[in-house]
Amino acid sequence: MNPVIDLLKSHRSIRKFTARALSPEQIDAIVTSAQAASTSSNVQAYSIIAVTEPDIKSEVARLAGSLAYVEQSGLFLVFCADLHRIRTATEQQGEMFHQNAESFIVATVDAALAAQNAAIAAESMGLGVCYIGSIRNEIEHVSRLLKLPELVYPVFGLTIGVPDQEPSFRPRLPKQAVVHQNAYQPDRIEAGIEAYDEVMHEYYKVRTNGKTLTNWSSGIADKYRKPVRGHMRSFLEAQGFRLD
Ligand SMILES: Cc1cc2nc3c(=O)[nH]c(=O)nc-3n(C[C@H](O)[C@H](O)[C@H](O)COP(=O)(O)O)c2cc1C
Repeated sequence: MNPVIDLLKSHRSIRKFTARALSPEQIDAIVTSAQAASTSSNVQAYSIIAVTEPDIKSEVARLAGSLAYVEQSGLFLVFCADLHRIRTATEQQGEMFHQNAESFIVATVDAALAAQNAAIAAESMGLGVCYIGSIRNEIEHVSRLLKLPELVYPVFGLTIGVPDQEPSFRPRLPKQAVVHQNAYQPDRIEAGIEAYDEVMHEYYKVRTNGKTLTNWSSGIADKYRKPVRGHMRSFLEAQGFRLD
């Protein structure tokens, strides 16, 4: 259709990189693109930590689950939701800073939008990316390691590098299960899941040479049959965020 849409449709996460480092121009283009993303009321409530020091990168890779693709990436960026800077600006104006669940959402969404712009910019240069939400497994350690102040939390990392693999496209849910006309249509959900399970069953079978015979909903059920990262709320409150 056009090169941007072709690029978006060709996305797949990359989990193996060559040893080639990114050039300063590439890094600058990625970060500038991240900053160009839309941001709620121009608050820009996020910060990006570029983890370049090998010891720190290794430690983050370990905390994220001993991920080689974090350690070996050409660039590892941690996107943080950040209310610290806007509290500073508010207080410098002599005003009281108020925050709540709304400001938490604003900061988290801002961080995600900036990250996705960074991801697309990287992919447009032929680089591969993978988001790393598993830094939240050890969010307290990661925050301490990166010296995050109060009102800043790491939403996820983004590994970026020269791809050393060509994974196949991971199919998405059928549109009728995701896109609704004018109002939510719950009656489409079950059929959508069923159709997608069939597609994903085949995808896993092919991708693992017949070893994995699962589907999408059994993977989802496996993940959601117990609470995921139940430490998040207490961590966020200790970090100064108010979720009321
Ligand atoms: C917020 C977020 C966090 C993610 N965290 C991880 C992660 O910790 N480790 C990982 O290998 N992939 C992670 N991923 C990648 C997803 O697994 C991947 O995007 C998804 O399965 C779809 O596959 P695709 O990106 O290849 O299309 C994450 C993706 C997102 C958006």
